[in-house]
Amino acid sequence: MALRNLLLGSVSETIQGKIRAAALLAGAALLGAALVVGTGGLAQADPAAGQRIVEQVCQQCHGLDGIALIDEAPNLSGQKRSYLARQLWAFRAGERQDPKMSPSAIGLSDQDIIDVSEWYSSVHITVEAPQ
Ligand code: HEC
Repeated sequence: MALRNLLLGSVSETIQGKIRAAALLAGAALLGAALVVGTGGLAQADPAAGQRIVEQVCQQCHGLDGIALIDEAPNLSGQKRSYLARQLWAFRAGERQDPKMSPSAIGLSDQDIIDVSEWYSSVHITVEAPQ
């Protein structure tokens, strides 16, 4: 239930009214449930489907491997799956907004979000601390 806790945590940070919070909670619970089901079939992540969406929509800004191709866009390689899904859900809901990013999130289904999150989180990265 870690994802659920993360989602609920974001509510207290961004709450701006009871109705908005209620909508956010309902959506968070749905997405949380969809992701938590995991092995249930419906919410099973499909990285190949995620790759197709990335190639068609996300690649131009975030790169196929999640190394961003434009300065404004963040690198997504190896990012936590639940974090990516939570941000995409927030963009889709209008809770987080960006003129470049928001249009790409609006058409994503819950399954698309699970799939693209799986794709980018599965990119292997290595890091090196500064000397
Ligand atoms: C036209 C460029 C563009 C496209 C296409 C695009 N993005 Fe983005 N994306 C951005 C920018 C710019 C940001 C940073 C927004 C901000 O500053 O809040 C962002 C932010 C994000 C974040 C939040 C990352 C974080 O660290 O919080 C995720 C996740 C993300 N994009 C995923 C996607 C996915 C998945 C797609 C394809 C379905 C996509 N983006 C398509 C430009 C784009």
